[in-house]
Amino acid sequence: MKRIGIIVGSLRENSFNRMIANTIPELVDSAKYEYISIGNLPLYNADLDRGEELDAVVHFREAIQRSDGIIIVSPEYNSGIPGVLKNALDWASTPTKTSVLIHKPVGVVGATPGAKGTILSQQQIRQTLDATQCYVLPSQKMYISQVMDKIDSDSRKLTDETTRKYLHRYIQSFIQWIDQVQRLSEQ
Ligand SMILES: Cc1cc2nc3c(=O)[nH]c(=O)nc-3n(C[C@H](O)[C@H](O)[C@H](O)COP(=O)(O)O)c2cc1C
Repeated sequence: MKRIGIIVGSLRENSFNRMIANTIPELVDSAKYEYISIGNLPLYNADLDRGEELDAVVHFREAIQRSDGIIIVSPEYNSGIPGVLKNALDWASTPTKTSVLIHKPVGVVGATPGAKGTILSQQQIRQTLDATQCYVLPSQKMYISQVMDKIDSDSRKLTDETTRKYLHRYIQSFIQWIDQVQRLSEQ
């Protein structure tokens, strides 16, 4: 069974993106999931990144390392990537030559109460990921707009049937993408 790490780009307790992330395991139960926290990472500082890393950084990198693929579920802040997520990706991106992101399959999902589904945030996330040499699932995009109408506030899960169907398809494609990347690496 594949192991998928899920990183949520919001630290908010009632985060819609976390609710979307929490729905993924019930949509596709053919993989194992691990939620990788980013809220305890320090602000990136190269002076702290000299080989004697802090526990939070070591645990974060190890969680990515043991995942066959990573799915990022993130909001958009001011038309771009939330600072906490950028900070986490910067920590994951070093040491540059041996980073845990090199050749890692990555998927990107985003939800917003707004109308545009985190398009601009996802552009910046992809730009950052491109610099890390990971393999982002190409062509398919998973933008969730008006998210407050698509979740159930009691179960705190995604309940909109159409969006569940699209997210299911996205996760299935991502699992196939992990296989494709593994085949590429073996060549
Ligand atoms: C500082 C800030 C900037 C935001 N900028 C955007 C934005 O550019 N586009 C957007 O769709 N939503 C924006 N929002 C609204 C967020 O999409 C909304 O707060 C969302 O619920 C955050 O995700 P979460 O529920 O997972 O925490 C912004 C929110 C904050 C706090």
